[in-house]
Amino acid sequence: MSKILILYYSRTGNTEKMAVAVAEGAKTVQGVEVEVTYQTTPEMLANYEAIAIGTPTYHHDMSLEVKNLFEEAAVKNINLKGKIGAAFGSYGWSGEAPRLVLEIMRNKFQMRTIEPSLIIKYEPDQENLQKCREYGKKIAEEITPRT
Ligand SMILES: Cc1cc2nc3c(=O)[nH]c(=O)nc-3n(C[C@H](O)[C@H](O)[C@H](O)COP(=O)(O)O)c2cc1C
Repeated sequence: MSKILILYYSRTGNTEKMAVAVAEGAKTVQGVEVEVTYQTTPEMLANYEAIAIGTPTYHHDMSLEVKNLFEEAAVKNINLKGKIGAAFGSYGWSGEAPRLVLEIMRNKFQMRTIEPSLIIKYEPDQENLQKCREYGKKIAEEITPRT
């Protein structure tokens, strides 16, 4: 089974709703195991074929939790090369956090990123939740062999 980690941070619940929908979409693809969590360790990251990170944009940046995780993974030389990387998050007006996450995944960890990232303004409505499900499906399809 190919494993996907959906790791998110959310202060007021908007990115959390996105994370749940991304997971729903990923689970529609056969042969993948999906884990959704708001905490992990840098060492754990190595256990997944795909890592999707959900972070809202606060003060033009990703959440401190996500930044610290990248920092620790870099210090500990965790090897994520070639893994699929994806990023999503809720925002209010600028929304750059998920793009910054993909940039680090691609440039620092040499992951294969799914571009562009998915951003939704404030609380996702039904239409936007569907976009999240489609994004999750796309991530899962990247790690499952095509027949
Ligand atoms: C103090 C504060 C700073 C914020 N800074 C930004 C920002 O720089 N850019 C932006 O797009 N949204 C910004 N926002 C809006 C949040 O990204 C938005 O409320 C988002 O839906 C929060 O997601 P969450 O519910 O997952 O925490 C800010 C919100 C607060 C309260």
